[in-house]
Amino acid sequence: MEDPIRRHPTRAEQLDIIVRAVADQARPGDGVLDLGCGTGYLGHLLFRAREDLRYVGVDRKGESLEAARANLGEGVRLVADDLSAIATIAGLDGPWRFIVTALTFHDLDDAGKARVIAWAARRLAADGWFLLYDRLRLTEPALFPLQQSVWRRLERIHGEGMRTADDFAAYERDLGSDNRPATLVDYARWFAAAGLAFQCLHLHGNVALLAGAPRAATA
Ligand SMILES: C[S@@+](CC[C@H](N)C(=O)[O-])C[C@H]1O[C@@H](n2cnc3c(N)ncnc32)[C@H](O)[C@@H]1O
Repeated sequence: MEDPIRRHPTRAEQLDIIVRAVADQARPGDGVLDLGCGTGYLGHLLFRAREDLRYVGVDRKGESLEAARANLGEGVRLVADDLSAIATIAGLDGPWRFIVTALTFHDLDDAGKARVIAWAARRLAADGWFLLYDRLRLTEPALFPLQQSVWRRLERIHGEGMRTADDFAAYERDLGSDNRPATLVDYARWFAAAGLAFQCLHLHGNVALLAGAPRAATA
């Protein structure tokens, strides 16, 4: 299966880190819940590394789920629903060893992001992990030229660029209802509020792979 998203030159590395982490840590038959699974590319990579996983993908787009079914076969569960109302989606209770999400959180508003993180924290196994890969919001006009250099460098190395903008105002104009990345600071706050230990596993410019794990209950 080809990667349906080509605009992120760092994506192959960041998806591979998710796959390697799951493949290393999973016990036979462990469950992976993929929030915003799209056409199933991450599931495809996971199954290439570990055939024995149980995979459930959630996405609101019917046509993406049809493609995911064709790509992943009958052995997976695919749920057509809206993550904004995740608490009402039946049958996702877990506990999950792994909850993963790739390039999807920027589609949710901030309250929705915090809600999904809190929901995930309550459904993780005590030794489970939440892995979130997405763009981060840029907030500092004075530092924007440096981010442009990061994008230009990626374009030079990979032959294709990521999202870019002529200046900070253009970057902000491009933010909208389906492009609402959050800051690293906000993610750290939402993970902590959900009771998750928080760590950045990989950061390239404004694209992050974040990890959360339930904090051990203290006596
Ligand atoms: C950029 S695509 C990424 C797909 C996949 N995770 C990947 O990396 O190949 C974002 C996906 O999130 C889904 N999505 C966005 N907001 C959603 C929501 N509120 N509920 C369910 N799915 C959502 C979209 O339909 C889309 O398939």
